[in-house]
Amino acid sequence: MPDQKAWENFFDPEKILKTLGLGHRVNNVVEFGCGYGTFTIPTAKIIKGKIYALDIEPDMIRITKERARNNKLDNVEAILCDFINDGSNLPNETADYAMLFNILHLEQPGKLLNEARRVLKKDGKLGIIHWNCDPKTPRGPSMAIRPKPEQCIEWAKSAGFRSPKRFDLKPYHYGLLLVK
Ligand SMILES: C[S@@+](CC[C@H](N)C(=O)[O-])C[C@H]1O[C@@H](n2cnc3c(N)ncnc32)[C@H](O)[C@@H]1O
Repeated sequence: MPDQKAWENFFDPEKILKTLGLGHRVNNVVEFGCGYGTFTIPTAKIIKGKIYALDIEPDMIRITKERARNNKLDNVEAILCDFINDGSNLPNETADYAMLFNILHLEQPGKLLNEARRVLKKDGKLGIIHWNCDPKTPRGPSMAIRPKPEQCIEWAKSAGFRSPKRFDLKPYHYGLLLVK
């Protein structure tokens, strides 16, 4: 990850959340790989319920907790875990929405999508964003592991998600919304 300021120049989180259906009617959310809390904090400000923000890096969990405290948000639960190797440890059907933002280049995307499906309620939503498959983007995983939207849709369908919708999240990202 680049430093926080540089990372957060690449997105308009509020606009992306709105486009991907994260609004006032959403109750609980699980975010896989919260990083600096770039999307955690704006999500916590608009949803009805709680956001479970998961990350393997203690620094990312610390920063996300600190930002939640500074914003006086009591609905952010930042949890240190390795969701690929150990799962999230959240109960089945915890959430209405699962966020996989800039994370599906990891090895074992199927394992991650299965875990996202497990923690979602029936008809829950899965939001995916990732860097466009364009070598000119200022950041992003190497082109060799950067998944195309079609690839993400195929993985998500294999994990049991349906009704994919695709969005252009200019300038550098694409978005996908699917249903459990
Ligand atoms: C590229 S960052 C994206 C952060 C955030 N979703 C965003 O878009 O701003 C990916 C994050 O996933 C975390 N991560 C990677 N592998 C993980 C794993 N196995 N378990 C938990 N977190 C993981 C990293 O520590 C990192 O903070």
